[in-house]
Amino acid sequence: MRTREALLPDAERIHDLISYYSGDGTLLPRSLGEICENVRDFIVLEEAGRIIGCGALHLYGPHLAEIRSITVNPGYQKRGGGELLVQSLLSEAREHQVSCICLFTRTPQFFAKLGFIVGQREDLPDKINRDCRVCPRYHCCDEVAMLKGELPRFAVPPEAANWLVKLQV
Ligand SMILES: CC(C)(COP(=O)(O)OP(=O)(O)OC[C@H]1O[C@@H](n2cnc3c(N)ncnc32)[C@H](O)[C@@H]1OP(=O)(O)O)[C@@H](O)C(=O)NCCC(=O)NCCS
Repeated sequence: MRTREALLPDAERIHDLISYYSGDGTLLPRSLGEICENVRDFIVLEEAGRIIGCGALHLYGPHLAEIRSITVNPGYQKRGGGELLVQSLLSEAREHQVSCICLFTRTPQFFAKLGFIVGQREDLPDKINRDCRVCPRYHCCDEVAMLKGELPRFAVPPEAANWLVKLQV
């Protein structure tokens, strides 16, 4: 098994992998168009030339990145692929010198094993401004916010995405 950066021709396979687990709310649904536009966020997990998993790292800025859409084909789980995906994305975040990695999940035990701790989504205004505010489940969110690294002390305000504001922490 190995991971590699995703390319546009992988988008349909990534879409299939995510769709398998988005029906029951395990993963957030991602449209094929959204995956194509953000394909440079994605990595894929391959075995014998076949794509069996995927994951994404979304960069907000030097203060924060988010791991998203981690999934492994059910037939290939429990063989270290999920961990390999997370470790590859963490290593990419390190290369970008991002100080905090966050994620939102209904599978906190898996990420706790990989060193993430449970946090508060209020500590992540970038995420709230970008995604949570428009989410129909904003007031009944059942996802656990998890973090690795330093709590962000900056955020990108939604109305001015080209500068950072200091948080009152
Ligand atoms: C979560 C998921 C990616 C794990 O993939 P995987 O290839 O089975 O994971 P690994 O084999 O690398 O497991 C790494 C460790 O996590 C544990 N683990 C795996 N899935 C777990 C789960 N759902 N809950 C708790 N622990 C889990 C494994 O037992 C293993 O622990 P060990 O090293 O002590 O044996 C996979 O189950 C999946 O695709 N689930 C559906 C989508 C999902 O829930 N994504 C994450 C939420 S964003």
